[in-house]
Amino acid sequence: MKDKTMDDYTLLIDLHKQGYRQGPGGDAETELTLNLAMIDRAAPLKIADVGCGTGASTILLARLLNAQITAVDLLQDFLDVLSERAESAGVADRISTLACSMDSLPFTNEQLDVIWSEGAIYNIGFEKGVAEWQRFLKAGGLFVASEITWLTDSRPPELQKHWDSAYPEIDVASAKIKVLEKHGYSPIGYFALPEHCWLDEYYRPMQARFEDFLNRNGSSEKAREIVAVEQREIDLYETYKTYISYGVYVARKTE
Ligand SMILES: C[S@@+](CC[C@H](N)C(=O)[O-])C[C@H]1O[C@@H](n2cnc3c(N)ncnc32)[C@H](O)[C@@H]1O
Repeated sequence: MKDKTMDDYTLLIDLHKQGYRQGPGGDAETELTLNLAMIDRAAPLKIADVGCGTGASTILLARLLNAQITAVDLLQDFLDVLSERAESAGVADRISTLACSMDSLPFTNEQLDVIWSEGAIYNIGFEKGVAEWQRFLKAGGLFVASEITWLTDSRPPELQKHWDSAYPEIDVASAKIKVLEKHGYSPIGYFALPEHCWLDEYYRPMQARFEDFLNRNGSSEKAREIVAVEQREIDLYETYKTYISYGVYVARKTE
C-alpha cells in the first residue's frame, strides 16, 4: 500500500472524526460480546480499549461496567472527540486517553483484566497483537478483538485478490481461533458482525458525510480520491457481503 502523507491523514481524520464509529460495529454487538465474555459487571476492572477511535465501544463499556478504561489510539484528534463524548455521557472519570501506537503499548506485565479492540488490531496484524499484548493481561484476563474474517471456505477471485493485497492475514474463524490457542488463550466465544453493523452503523453515516467533506476541502483531488476509495470499499462489501465480515473473538488468558 502507498505510504500516507500528512495531508492524507488530515483528510482521513476530517472524514472520520465526526463518525460515531470509525469501523463496522454496533452497541448491541458490543453488549453481546460482554455477555459472551461472561464479565461480572460489578467487578472493578482495568481495561485497555486499543484503537478506540472516537470511543463508541469505550463509552459503552464505561457505562455498563465498573471499570477504569485506558482508551488508546494513534490519533490525538480522535481521542479529543472521545474525551468530549465521555464528558457528555457522564463517564469521563472512568476513562483516560493515551495517544500511542499499539505496537509499543506502555502497560506493565499482568496490569490489565481486559484488552478490548474493535476493528483495529489489523493495524499491526492479528497474530502480532495477540502475541505481544498477552503479557499485559492478568492470568484469566480477557482478550476481545474484532478482526476481518472469511465467512466461507472459498471466495470469488475478485474478492480474494483484493484482500490478499490489502490484508494477507485475513482468514477463516477457525484459523484465527488457532492463533489464539497458539498464544496462550482459551477461546470462549465467536460471532460474525451482522450486515447492519457495516451498512447502518458505519457505511451509510459515512456516505452521508461525503458531500460536506468534499465542500470543506474544496473538492481537492486528494479529498475526491479518499471518497472514491471509501466508495469502492463499500461497493465491494455490498457485492460480497455473504463472504466476509468482522469476526468478534473472545478468549481467556490461560497462562
Ligand atoms: C477502523 S478504526 C476502529 C475505531 C474504533 N475501535 C471503532 O470501532 O469505531 C481503527 C482505529 O485504529 C487506530 N489506529 C491505526 N493505527 C494504529 C496504531 N498503530 N496504534 C493505535 N491505533 C491505531 C485508528 O486511528 C482508528 O481509530
